Amino acid sequence: MRAALLLLLLLPALTSAADVDEVTGLIRNPGWEQVRAHCGGCHSHALVTSQRADRNTWLDTLRWMQATQNLWQFEPSVETQILDYLAENYPPTANRRRAPIPPSLMPGSDKEMANKQ
Ligand code: HEC
Repeated sequence: MRAALLLLLLLPALTSAADVDEVTGLIRNPGWEQVRAHCGGCHSHALVTSQRADRNTWLDTLRWMQATQNLWQFEPSVETQILDYLAENYPPTANRRRAPIPPSLMPGSDKEMANKQ
């Protein structure tokens, strides 16, 4: 009984862990071999995996590298696989900045003035 409960508790952790390639750090989902082949020659794959963006922004990044960094042109089908993979596996994240400081804690607020008196 206990073992069964434990297994139930662990199951989500076991099934949701993404399968990550040990060498490149890329998530092994469809299209990852294209990214492995085309995106690690000039910089680390870590530069790719540390980035989060929507499809359009990924496309902008590719176009920028093609225009200024000697990135080669892709076959349309290859480019689609790369963009689908990037947008799917490295999408934009929710804003990770801290919440704004409450006005009452900002310099010059009444409360702060009160504290100083
Ligand atoms: C021909 C060389 C080359 C290839 C191949 C290449 N890149 Fe880049 N990439 C660069 C250079 C150069 C930079 C700028 C690096 C720096 O700022 O240190 C860069 C920067 C980046 C950045 C950071 C952009 C930013 O806004 O800071 C990302 C993300 C990126 N590349 C993704 C990719 C992806 C995805 C691929 C595969 C489709 C790829 N790169 C293939 C040359 C390349």
